[in-house]
Amino acid sequence: MNRYLVTGGAGFLGSHLCERLLNDGNAVLCLDDFSTGNENNVSHLKSNPNFDLECHDLTTPFFPEKINGIFNFASPASPVDYQHNPIKTLKMGTLAIYNVLGMAKRLNIPILHASTSEVYGDPEVHPQSEDYWGNVNPIGPRACYDEGKRVAESLLIAYQEHAGVDIRIARIFNTYGPHMDPQDGRVVSNFICQALKNKPVTIYGDGLQTRSFCYVDDLIDGIVRLMNSTYQSPLNLGNPSEYSILDLANMVISLTNSESELIHKDLPIDDPKRRNPDISLANKIIDWSPSTSLEEGLKKTIPWFDKLI
Ligand SMILES: NC(=O)c1ccc[n+]([C@@H]2O[C@H](COP(=O)([O-])OP(=O)(O)OC[C@H]3O[C@@H](n4cnc5c(N)ncnc54)[C@H](O)[C@@H]3O)[C@@H](O)[C@H]2O)c1
Repeated sequence: MNRYLVTGGAGFLGSHLCERLLNDGNAVLCLDDFSTGNENNVSHLKSNPNFDLECHDLTTPFFPEKINGIFNFASPASPVDYQHNPIKTLKMGTLAIYNVLGMAKRLNIPILHASTSEVYGDPEVHPQSEDYWGNVNPIGPRACYDEGKRVAESLLIAYQEHAGVDIRIARIFNTYGPHMDPQDGRVVSNFICQALKNKPVTIYGDGLQTRSFCYVDDLIDGIVRLMNSTYQSPLNLGNPSEYSILDLANMVISLTNSESELIHKDLPIDDPKRRNPDISLANKIIDWSPSTSLEEGLKKTIPWFDKLI
């Protein structure tokens, strides 16, 4: 039986990953400082004898033993969370990465890192393929996250090329599903919570900017496939179906039978106008493509928020 370290395992994606790894017959050490995640996301796993949970801040060293692989998901991920403490966010893109790469090197085990489509910034190329270098403002309000994730990728490549560490880099595009934090200001959770409360649904800008939304189970399947592969370069994981923010708002309002109206607010600085993954490489390398439509995924997600609010 393999035992995996999942950093950020009490967060939205990490908790689904812990569950999937356990269901596949592995053991899991879930490490989290609960800064943006929630212990409740993994409370249903605690009775499993193959599941361990440890509270630790990953910007300080950690020396686990008996680990066969690392999934590095710890990092604030929503703009509200990562802009709350930009210095700490940059430490997660640097110090924390040295720490996990040090672990992988010492134990001679593979490490999969959760990177992001934000490395493409406000892209000038559509859809974004892995060979696009991106368009990122290095001193803007999103830089602590975007540039942190970019330097993290550079560190992974350096450890792979110069220290022989077995790396995987998942460039994750917008993902949604149960276990999202209703307070963290991401568009899907915002819209669902506002619609369920019949409050105005807030559109930033004219709402014509587009995003692609991947249901969490599809994403986690891609993550597991990538770890099981031998592919050592960045790989896009996301759903290529592109929706405008207005389309998303209208779909959420309809699926929640809401009486909410749409209101418009100013677009945040450096907000990307389009985001759409080219997943042809993931298709070829790990035989992966998402199978859940936005409507299907929202129908699975809405009840989670309905219980919470
Ligand atoms: N959800 C998405 O759409 C998305 C898209 C692209 C990339 N990602 C990446 O995936 C990863 C997980 O994102 P998420 O959406 O699950 O966010 P999340 O905030 O729900 O989860 C992140 C987890 O990391 C933990 N964490 C933060 N700082 C820590 C520290 N110093 N030490 C230990 N734990 C710490 C948090 O408490 C939380 O449980 C992040 O690295 C994020 O950048 C997510």
